[in-house]
Amino acid sequence: MKFFIHTYGCQMNVRDSDAVAADLAAAGHVPAESEEAADLVIVNSCSVREKAEDKAIGKLGLLCAGKKERPGLVVGVMGCMAQRLGETIFARVRGLDFSVGSRAARRIPAIVREIEAGSTRIWFPGELSDFNVPHGHFNCGIGAYVTVLLGCNRHCTYCIVPDVRGPEYSRPAADIVAEVRALAEKGVKEVTLLGQSVLRYGLQKDRVWPDDGPSSGSAFTEPFPRLLEALSRIDGLERIRFTSGHPAGCTPELARAYRDLPKVCRHLHLPVQSGSDRILKAMRRGYTAGEYLAAVDRLRASVPDVAVTTDIIVGFPGETLEDFEATRALMRAARFDNSFVFKYSPRPGTPAARMDDDVSPEEKDRRNKVLLADQDELGLANNEAWVGRDVEVLAEGPSLRNAERWSGRSGQNKIVIFAPRAGLSTGDLATVRIVRANPQTLFGELVPADGGSLETASQSRGA
Ligand code: SAH
Ligand code: SF4
Ligand code: F3S
Repeated sequence: MKFFIHTYGCQMNVRDSDAVAADLAAAGHVPAESEEAADLVIVNSCSVREKAEDKAIGKLGLLCAGKKERPGLVVGVMGCMAQRLGETIFARVRGLDFSVGSRAARRIPAIVREIEAGSTRIWFPGELSDFNVPHGHFNCGIGAYVTVLLGCNRHCTYCIVPDVRGPEYSRPAADIVAEVRALAEKGVKEVTLLGQSVLRYGLQKDRVWPDDGPSSGSAFTEPFPRLLEALSRIDGLERIRFTSGHPAGCTPELARAYRDLPKVCRHLHLPVQSGSDRILKAMRRGYTAGEYLAAVDRLRASVPDVAVTTDIIVGFPGETLEDFEATRALMRAARFDNSFVFKYSPRPGTPAARMDDDVSPEEKDRRNKVLLADQDELGLANNEAWVGRDVEVLAEGPSLRNAERWSGRSGQNKIVIFAPRAGLSTGDLATVRIVRANPQTLFGELVPADGGSLETASQSRGA
């Protein structure tokens, strides 16, 4: 069949979709050029906020309604919402052919075979304790995601992820190293290691690490820095990123890994959620605003230039204007390079869902906009500090807005726009001198490898 996968939610889902594509291709199916041209459409769903679920349900409804004009079309759903709704989804989406739980995606090729043989309405929950994660890669460019930690044990009071992704589990280090080595052999230059609380990699006492981890001659004792060190040794791989962090994982060894392992990009995504101690406690985040800031300060003190980005929730139950102002103050104190701001959405079955969702939608919207405006100021100040400096950029290709220019990312994960030189290829590392900045983007000129004058392809063409 010709398949198309529609992905909602986080990088974890993007990763899972690509692994499903690899499994489907291995089973003889081929990717469709578009959703319209497909005869198998799979929606990979997210549950993190109600809106995310609404989108997936809406999409599935449209697809199934379209079956009248597209006889033979098979529609399936996977991911976090599939896990949460279970069999009840068939009552909400008429004509849906199959649904698989969040750790059962490897089952999809077998389910597709059953559907082709005449089965209908297949629900395959799988087990949330199943560690047989999808690990194939299909659409590899110069970057790839690699899931290193499944699930989550933190149970923040607002969050559905532990319910729909199951308990925390660290993949064996040897599997991860083998996966990344294979990616590097295929030309991948940058990997992003994924985990809900990725710095907890290898810390569960009853699980997998450390016996099969690369242990001899390591400069580190903690599992995550050791994993970074092992991956750093892989030839061809240029950059290692990871997400998301937690202040508890910001140890001196992590700082040393940033400093001593040149392939480790100097960026940490460290969701803070709120700057109010009262709200942080109600969220059960496990730190105070002061502890969070201390972790950021320690990291910055030993790793110059590290970029710190965050997630913030506005309108958590009971969030007063004073709590909100505390969040604004923390944002300023932390000088974030970027913030993703979300409006609180009660998730069924979570402890916070039993609290009064007492901040009005209009007020959530207002607080959201205030924080985004604050972040724009911070982002501009941070980015302007790069003007006049040279950054190493992994070239991605022509920029979407202006094909004369290329875009790439710095180690700090900032988008850098520059004029290419002749012969520059996607995946090359290049040095760019920053000449201008806005809150989201840096603009610069290539610095020639020989250190000569700043001549670029467009300048030599007389542009
Ligand atoms: N594991 C990551 C976050 C994963 S979910 C971490 O804790 O660092 C991504 C983001 O979605 C969270 O950081 C949070 O800001 C937001 N989020 C999670 N649950 C939410 C909810 N119920 N309402 C609004 N935003 C939520
Ligand atoms: Fe959700 Fe908290 Fe786990 Fe992140 S750490 S996935 S916010 S429970
Ligand atoms: Fe990710 Fe959404 Fe699931 S944020 S883990 S896809 S609930």
